[in-house]
Amino acid sequence: MCGIVGYIGERQAKSILLGCLAKLEYRGYDSCGIALASSNLEVYKDAVRVGELAKVSPQLDGRAGVGHTRWATHGEPSQVNAHPHCDCTGKITVVHNGIINNFQSLRQKLTGEGHKFVSETDTEVIPHLIEKYYQGNLEKAVETALLDVEGSYAIIVLMAGEPRLIAARKDSPLIIGIGDRENFVASDVPAILDYTDRVIYLEDGDITVITKGSIRVNRGGVEIDWKEHKISWSVEDAQKAGYEHFMLKEIHEQPKVIRDTLVGYVSTAEPVIDIADASLEGMLLLACGTSYHAALLGKYIAEELLRIPVRAELASEFNSYSQTLTTPVSIAITQSGETADTLKAMKRLKETGHKVLVITNVVGSTASRIANQTIYTRAGPEISVAATKSFMAQLMVLYWLTMSYSKVDATRVADMIVGLRQLPSKVQQVLDNEDRILECARYLSRYENVFFAGRGINFPVALEGALKLKEISYIHAEGYAAGELKHGPFALLCADTPVIAIVAQDNTYKAMLTNIREVKARGSPVIALAEEGDEAIEELADSVITVPRVDAIFSPVVNTVALQLLAYYTAKQRGCPIDFPRNLAKSVTVE
Ligand code: AGP
Repeated sequence: MCGIVGYIGERQAKSILLGCLAKLEYRGYDSCGIALASSNLEVYKDAVRVGELAKVSPQLDGRAGVGHTRWATHGEPSQVNAHPHCDCTGKITVVHNGIINNFQSLRQKLTGEGHKFVSETDTEVIPHLIEKYYQGNLEKAVETALLDVEGSYAIIVLMAGEPRLIAARKDSPLIIGIGDRENFVASDVPAILDYTDRVIYLEDGDITVITKGSIRVNRGGVEIDWKEHKISWSVEDAQKAGYEHFMLKEIHEQPKVIRDTLVGYVSTAEPVIDIADASLEGMLLLACGTSYHAALLGKYIAEELLRIPVRAELASEFNSYSQTLTTPVSIAITQSGETADTLKAMKRLKETGHKVLVITNVVGSTASRIANQTIYTRAGPEISVAATKSFMAQLMVLYWLTMSYSKVDATRVADMIVGLRQLPSKVQQVLDNEDRILECARYLSRYENVFFAGRGINFPVALEGALKLKEISYIHAEGYAAGELKHGPFALLCADTPVIAIVAQDNTYKAMLTNIREVKARGSPVIALAEEGDEAIEELADSVITVPRVDAIFSPVVNTVALQLLAYYTAKQRGCPIDFPRNLAKSVTVE
């Protein structure tokens, strides 16, 4: 997820472009760039934040320009991989948000036709395609070029000597800002709110020609009458897309994140662990915090599907081991790719001759440099300290990874692929059940101690639910394997210590009901998280949060989203600073 902007008008474009870009840094901030057109094209870009670029960039002239702030997916953050990207003539330039799935084959073909590529990005094929088809009509050339492109894109095209911008979108957001003798293009509303509150929302397939005095939208090759909308949000509200906190926005992004992460892999069949040289007799997963809970879930899934012993280790604990026990495959998991404990563990493994793979959300992060191989989650930038969508993306990679090498029969895997594809809509059902969760949060917000209990594949979910509640609501919460409660924690049970019981329709169901009876017998109120239609649990628990029916192996997905919302609304009830809780950091770069 990157941020793109365009301006054409009577004012000098540079400061306007930089102002708009700064408002889009929540979409990506690892590198940025601008290009301005007068009779020629001037491009300035680097692996810095927008503020820094504003300071170091030279005076650039032009009343038309484009800009980009990046969240790298293909090619790590660097000056050459930053946008805008140009064609061979240096006259056509493009900024892009999205992913071109067939960029490698296009690149090969264009190279064969004499085009020279300078970056590692997927985007660079677009200006070269436009150059290939340009015969005096920029709009026509863009239209033809996009016929060759597979994937998602929002693009703005600028050409030296051309008094117009061409913008187009498919599966990536793009809006037009309407000004007085000037017009704007942007990935999202926050970018342009300082200049205008009049916008046009473009649809998939729209190709738009923008001059300082006109806007023409072609849909399916036909010019349409566009509709203007008036925006009443503040810039900050708009950055949160109208949600009160980034955390709630990021929780609601999960259906899309699941789709993006799966599409990124299942469709392109990108190579993963080159198992060839690593006999899959065992696996080590290591991480910290929420990523560790993904690792622990990965252990359960991998042991079930790969039928091999899997260790899930806390990276900080792994680093305290004197011996580095050998495992054929070691996988580190880290959203930021900068967590010191995880990086140290990765280095230790490499120093002792191990092959290390990393699952990370940040292209070009230190972890991706240390690792022998990197699998990127496609969660986009996660602003809220509490990890939510990044955890979901990690789960998707772990499901897909283990399914790709599973030892279970093909029909089971086929069923799971069907289940996997249904997850975005199942998660949406949980999000639509927010009111019920809000009720439970009002109840939970008055307690200072809470237990989460789960069994099997939902034990890590109990840990994650407790961590989310702890870190944003400041309630002391513990996650437990439900079978462990009677070995000590029972001593803490009373009317003031509610228990959140995760009840899945799998081989742990009966044992969970027994545990709930034991907890209730000791006076603790029980909030059960259970599948819709489960009458037995309605009778047993004090209150029930229902989740949609899914294949048991995917129950952690819907259960986690429900617990994220429960933590969010409980913290909101308690008036906590949800996005930036005390004493925590988004990336813990110290041991
Ligand atoms: C989770 O909400 C926290 N922000 C924290 O536990 C986090 O998961 C941990 O610091 C690991 O971060 P990483 O995934 O970036 O390595």
